[in-house]
Amino acid sequence: MRIAFIGGGHMTSSLVGGLRGRGTAPGDLSVADPQPAQLERLQRDFGVRTSSDNAAAIRDADLVVLAVKPQDMAAAARSIAGELGDRRRIVVSVAAGIRVADLARWLGERVPVVRTMPNRPALIGAGITAAFAGPGVAPPDRAAVEGVMSTAGPLVWLEDESLKDVVTAVSGSGPAYFFLLIEALEDAGASLGLPRSTARQLAVHTALGAGRMAAEGTDAPTTLREQVTSRGGTTAAALAVLGRADVRGTFAEAVAAAARRSAELADQYGGE
Ligand SMILES: NC(=O)c1ccc[n+]([C@@H]2O[C@H](COP(=O)([O-])OP(=O)(O)OC[C@H]3O[C@@H](n4cnc5c(N)ncnc54)[C@H](OP(=O)(O)O)[C@@H]3O)[C@@H](O)[C@H]2O)c1
Repeated sequence: MRIAFIGGGHMTSSLVGGLRGRGTAPGDLSVADPQPAQLERLQRDFGVRTSSDNAAAIRDADLVVLAVKPQDMAAAARSIAGELGDRRRIVVSVAAGIRVADLARWLGERVPVVRTMPNRPALIGAGITAAFAGPGVAPPDRAAVEGVMSTAGPLVWLEDESLKDVVTAVSGSGPAYFFLLIEALEDAGASLGLPRSTARQLAVHTALGAGRMAAEGTDAPTTLREQVTSRGGTTAAALAVLGRADVRGTFAEAVAAAARRSAELADQYGGE
């Protein structure tokens, strides 16, 4: 399968790096970007074919990944629309907040479109992607999209596009919530006397270990939490304080605010 990327920035570098690492031939990957420096870097690092002409870059592609910023998406999609008519190919967007209906309007209604929502850790292959398939996307198309996006981490399919604002609020913005937690734990450890670098190392690796236990085991997070919380012990003392501060309620409010903002931004970028 030949894959073309429109936009040669961070997300494309990461996906191309993942595909090359898995053995995809460099001749099967092409990238288009207006910046010669981006193209030189991608050519040098991964040996892929490059072009400053979007339509030329997708000419022999079976799957096209649109990896530009949301505000550039209308222009990028329109730049390849004329080239998409000659044969069937699937178009995948990785842009936050761009709806399938907007993509179809810019690309042509008959083009099969998949909208994906990766998050920032995708850049190191540790992301999570939610995807929504537009009309006309067949099971083999889904498998092809999974083949590309799984280099960035696991992929989950959504059957209802309206849930994408919730996904954005949970996993899109989510890394920032965990960074905040790491910062707060580091600050707390430092204020109680630990050297700051030690406090940071303890906080970061605790987050990493907790995440890996939740991801790799079969126990639910509630069970894992209960397993480290003995009655009358240290963890119970800390969780009692967090409970009184209604941390769960605050998280629910914060995630709802992010979901509302995601819907507002989709209206803004999709209107073109
Ligand atoms: N980075 C992340 O952590 C992350 C996570 C999840 C999702 N995403 C999504 O991934 C998409 C790309 O993000 P990124 O971080 O890779 O952005 P980026 O590093 O800014 O790369 C985008 C590239 O696309 C180029 N471009 C702009 N308009 C174009 C056009 N019409 N045709 C071809 N290329 C064009 C840009 O060139 P100029 O600089 O000249 O504009 C830039 O080199 C975004 O929509 C974002 O929402 C990113």
